Amino acid sequence: MMNKRIEAALNDQIQKESSSSQFYLAMASWAENNGLNGTAKFMYQHSDEERFHMLKLIKFVNERGGVALVPAVPQPPVEFDSLERVFELLLEHEIVVTESINGVVDVCLQEKDYSTHNFMQWYVSEQLEEEALARGILDKLRLIGGDKGGLYLFDRDLENAAAQATAGMGGQPA
Ligand code: FEO
Repeated sequence: MMNKRIEAALNDQIQKESSSSQFYLAMASWAENNGLNGTAKFMYQHSDEERFHMLKLIKFVNERGGVALVPAVPQPPVEFDSLERVFELLLEHEIVVTESINGVVDVCLQEKDYSTHNFMQWYVSEQLEEEALARGILDKLRLIGGDKGGLYLFDRDLENAAAQATAGMGGQPA
C-alpha cells in the first residue's frame, strides 16, 4: 500500500500535469489559427511532453500499490491576447508547477519516503529546464517587440527547435 499522503500529493500532481497538457494544447490550437505554425508545433509537442509527465506519475503510483486518479480538467482559454502573453502564461504556469513539485518533495521528506523522493528528482530537473526555456523565449519576444520580420523568424526558430527536440527523442515525447 502506498502512503496516503504521498498518494494524494502524487494524484494532485497528475492533475496539474494533465491540465498543463490541455493548456498548451489550447495554445497550440490558437497559434495554428493565427498563422504561427512554428509556435503551434512547439506547443503541440510541449502538450505531448506534459501528457508524458502525467503518464509517468500514473504508472509510478499504480506500480507502488497506490491508485492513480485520471483527473477531469478545466477547459483552457480559447483566445490569447498576444504571442508574448502566451509565453508569459506558460512561464507563470510552469512556476506554479515547480512549486507544486517542491511541495510533493516536501511531503516525501516528511513521510521519509526516499524512493518517491528519488523519483521526483527527475521532475525537479525538468522544471529547471522548462522555466529556463520559457524565460529565454520571453526575453527573445520582448526584444522583437512588434517587429513583423522578427516575429516571422521567431516562429521559424521555434519550428526548428520543435523538430530538433523530436529528432533527439526518437520521435517520442520525453
Ligand atoms: Fe510537466 Fe511543464 O511541467
